[in-house]
Amino acid sequence: APAALIDRHGRTISYLRISVTDRCDLRCRYCMAEAMTFLPKAALLSLEEIAVIAERFIARGITKIRLSGGEPLVRRDVIELVQRLGRHVGAGLDELTMTSNGTRLADHADALVAAGMRRINVSLDSRDPETFRYITRHGDVSQVLGGIAAARAAGLAVKINMVALKGLNATEIAPMLAWCVNQGHDLTLIETMPMGAIDEDRTDRFLPLTAVFDDLARQFSLVRDPRGSGGPARYWSVDGTKTRLGLISPLTGNFCAACNRVRLTTEGILYTCLGHDDRVDLKRVLRTDGVGALDAALDAAMASKPERHEFDIAAATPAVARHMSVTGG
Ligand code: GTP
Ligand code: 5AD
Ligand code: SF4
Repeated sequence: APAALIDRHGRTISYLRISVTDRCDLRCRYCMAEAMTFLPKAALLSLEEIAVIAERFIARGITKIRLSGGEPLVRRDVIELVQRLGRHVGAGLDELTMTSNGTRLADHADALVAAGMRRINVSLDSRDPETFRYITRHGDVSQVLGGIAAARAAGLAVKINMVALKGLNATEIAPMLAWCVNQGHDLTLIETMPMGAIDEDRTDRFLPLTAVFDDLARQFSLVRDPRGSGGPARYWSVDGTKTRLGLISPLTGNFCAACNRVRLTTEGILYTCLGHDDRVDLKRVLRTDGVGALDAALDAAMASKPERHEFDIAAATPAVARHMSVTGG
């Protein structure tokens, strides 16, 4: 079998995140500027090219693929991609999943399940209609809550992603966890990361999860859960319930030593770290030298993967100029 993907720090790379579009129907304030320039459509990989690259990764030992964005469900042909990659679930892939903002989930949940998806992460930074509208600039929270309900009805397990934002949703965190327990969802809290220019100062909204956790531990019985998903989150279970609480704390607790992932953009660029510009242009390799040249390009990527991000929330400029939506988080 072809060699597994092991980076120069000895880490096995088993998780590929694919941003299928950098576009989004929302404009979350910590993620995007109000006025965004998106990639020209001509620069994008076709669905066939994404699938060919993903299948090469599967042959090299990738066992988990997450489709992300931007908002993956705004790409017109994304369901076809899910169907194609879904054929590998149980035959190479352990998991095919997605991170979505939920606005269009009600329309697609059944198709995702039929294609082999079992679980989905949905961003929901507030359940309050006005706060949700403020954070997302355009969002209607009832649409997202409807999407989440439809996902559950279709049989998908749901994990809620909530970026902790000082002065915006801090007082909603404990109620969000209570709601997740009640609904049977998992909850992951995330520290805001300095990626791409936005219209405000991220420092003003930065909420360290260390303090948030202490507060939650006083109100809920939290039991450390050593199971990870091989990801950045540290997990606790809410005692006596099915709900797991995850904390993604890039600023207050670096987790890069266990990094297992790389990211493919919608333009076919493979970024080897969220916090650096190191990359390999897989689109160029595929289009000029063909699929047979991909393996050497993946090996080159492994040889250059940075050890860790250097995010500093107080720095004058973001650690990387690209937005989270380009690499899919
Ligand atoms: P699970 O499969 O449920 O563990 O999901 P996940 O945490 O891998 O993915 P998700 O798309 O839900 O991402 C949640 C948050 O984690 C997003 O804000 C991501 O940007 C962030 N994240 C994911 N991977 C990394 C990473 O390698 N480094 C950093 N700094 N953040 C990450
Ligand atoms: N910092 C932290 N999380 C972010 N997300 C988007 N931009 C940022 C950022 N700058 C989150 C979204 C979504 C996940 C994929 O990434 O809220 O849940
Ligand atoms: Fe869209 Fe997600 Fe960014 Fe919000 S965080 S603007 S939903 S890509």
